Formats: sequence, C-alpha cells, structure tokens
Amino acid sequence: MVVAVTIALNCCAAPTQDAPPLNWFKKTTEVIAFQLNKAAQTYQPGQNPRSVNPNGTVRTAGLTDWTTGFFPGSLWYGYELTGDKHLAEEAKKFTLALDSVRNITNTHDMGFMLYCSYGNAYRITGDKTYLPVLADGAKHLYNRFNPKIGVIKSWDFSWWHYPVIIDNMMNLEYLYWGAKEFKNPNYAIAANTHATTTMKNHYRKDYSSYHVVDYDPATGKVLRKATHQGLTDESAWARGQAWGLYGYTMCYENSKDPKFLAQAEHIASFIMNHPRTPKDKIPVWDYDVHNALDTEERAPRDASAAAVIASALLDLSKQVKNGEKYVDYAEQILKSLSSDAYLAKPGENHYFLLKHSVGAFLYNSEIDTPLDYADYYYLEALKRYAEIKKINH
Ligand code: GLY
Repeated sequence: MVVAVTIALNCCAAPTQDAPPLNWFKKTTEVIAFQLNKAAQTYQPGQNPRSVNPNGTVRTAGLTDWTTGFFPGSLWYGYELTGDKHLAEEAKKFTLALDSVRNITNTHDMGFMLYCSYGNAYRITGDKTYLPVLADGAKHLYNRFNPKIGVIKSWDFSWWHYPVIIDNMMNLEYLYWGAKEFKNPNYAIAANTHATTTMKNHYRKDYSSYHVVDYDPATGKVLRKATHQGLTDESAWARGQAWGLYGYTMCYENSKDPKFLAQAEHIASFIMNHPRTPKDKIPVWDYDVHNALDTEERAPRDASAAAVIASALLDLSKQVKNGEKYVDYAEQILKSLSSDAYLAKPGENHYFLLKHSVGAFLYNSEIDTPLDYADYYYLEALKRYAEIKKINH
C-alpha cells in the first residue's frame, strides 16, 4: 500500500535547479510506507528481518539477537514519518513479541533491543503497559555497571576479561531515560561515568576510537585496546566512529556536561574532514581500508554507519549555536541514501529500505547487505531532518 504524503514546505526553503524542493523526501516516504507494510506482512513477530544472506535468503533476528529491536522501531518511525496508522498497528504487534527480552542479563545491548522497540512504543503512544518491560531491561543494563572500573560490561562471551565496546555508548540513552522515568538517579550517574571513562580510554589523539577496551575486573586497569569488527586494532572502524558521535551527542543532550559536547564535535570533525570519505559521504566500512586492504572503489561502503552519522549530526546541530554545517552534511548523506544507489525500489531488497551495509567484514559476515539497523537509523535521521526542516506529512 502506498500512502499519499503531502509535504508542507518550510516557507524559506531555497528552490533547487533540478527539482522542486524536497521532492526526494516525498519519494522516499512513499518507498518507506510501501516497504515497511510489505515487510510487516512478510515476516513473523519475534523473527525480525535482520539482513540478507549471500544465498539470497533473509537472516532473521530472534529474541536474543542484539538487533531484534530495530524492525519494531523502524515500524514506529515509519508510522511517524508517513502517518500510516496500519504501520502503528504492526509496530505494536512486533514490539509485544519481544516481551521476554526483559529477562536477558548477559549483554549491554538492552538499549538496542528494548529502547528502540518498547521505548519508541511508549514515547509515541504514552501507553503505560509498555513500562514494566522497560523497567526490567533498564535494571538489567544498570546491573552490568561496575563503579570500581567506571564502565558497563559489554559482553560475557569469548576470551575478554571485562570488554567494553564503543557501541555501548548507544545503550546509555536507555539509562538516561530510565533515570527520569523510574526516578533512579543512579542510572544517570552510571551513564555519565561510563561516558567519561570511555572518553579517556577508547579515544586516540585524532578522536578516532578503538573498538574494544578490555579491563582487568579486579583493578580496573586497561589490559588491551583492540578491535572486533574493524580492520586492525589501530584502525577507525566506520560504525564505531558513528556510534561514538551519536553517543557523545546524546550524553551531552542528557547531562549538559560540556566535555561530552566537545567530544562529539571533535568526532564529527574527524568524520566530516576525513580525506578518505567518498564524494557521496557514505563511508567505506573502515576509514583505514584504503591503505591496508583494498582500493576505495572496490571496498564496500557501510550505509549503516552513514545513517547513524546523519542522525547524530542532526541531533548535534540542535545542541550548538552554528549547527547548519551539521545539517548540511547530514542532508548530503540522506540524499545519497535516498538515491537509487542505496534506497531499494518498492518491492525489491526483501522489503528492507537500504542496500550496501557491512556487519563484520573480517568475519565474512553481512558484507554489502541490507541491515535492520541501517534502516532504523535512516528512518530516525529522516524524522529528525523533517523536524528541523519543518516538513509535515
Ligand atoms: N553493535 C554491533 C555492531 O555495530 O555491529
């Protein structure tokens, strides 16, 4: 079903030469309505579409998958962007299927899993029946915080002692929100402390970040700085830079601590001024790939990193006095992602929105594929863009 979307243009938007202003946005929302409705009909709640396998089948995310909250969250954002009430009904169905995620205690990913699904459900509907699941998930995330080390433990698996990944910055939003909703200031203290420790130990002088920092659980000493999904321990994994930018922007918004804003602006500068950023602003999966592995032309891009960067920059633009440069850069990303090069044609791409993301290149996993979190942050960025540009459906 294609939903007719009427765009009320910002009074001051400058006309472009090739098309009436914001035509690209209108076309994009039509594709979104079509793809999300078809996806909701095609996939089963609790088995959410995650990516596409090399053999062309769809990899689904079950209840313990870190990405399981993104498809329900995409349906909620799709509803907000298009006004299509049917998407809200589907979003509710796909959200409620994640009820048992509230019992998970062995990962930091509770924010991705529950705040993106149940969190959006509650934000949009105000329905308090979503709260008990959110309360359990926030408690379990907080319980992974060790005040002696000053960070939340990301993973319980593998050879690491007390691993913290840069991605963990994203899950702090759930704690800031939980601190207010459940009147527990300890949640915000944990989030602030985690962000401060991560600033100290994850970042290099050029404001690129390590992916994983492993701590000694007994002393809090840093044992190792390494990568899990990047090219090398010393490289700048593209999505890691995106998670950090988004994380510090969000931490400033919640805490108003100026050091977090400064950190966000430094990371933005690393990304926006990087000499290996392609013309269309969609990064290769690791900023250091060009030298070490491949030529830029052959190396896969990561649309998911670009979508997270766009969403973060739009948020950052609201936190600073002269935010226009961040809006402009995010707009360039969104126009690229909304072009035929990245955005699926209606009915194609297994009903995902975006093509061309990378999950974990060196594990030969999810290379040049759609990804559920690319779609989620693309939708969030479009919503933020629409708010800034005063585009109404
Ligand atoms: N949080 C895992 C990833 O970004 O791939």
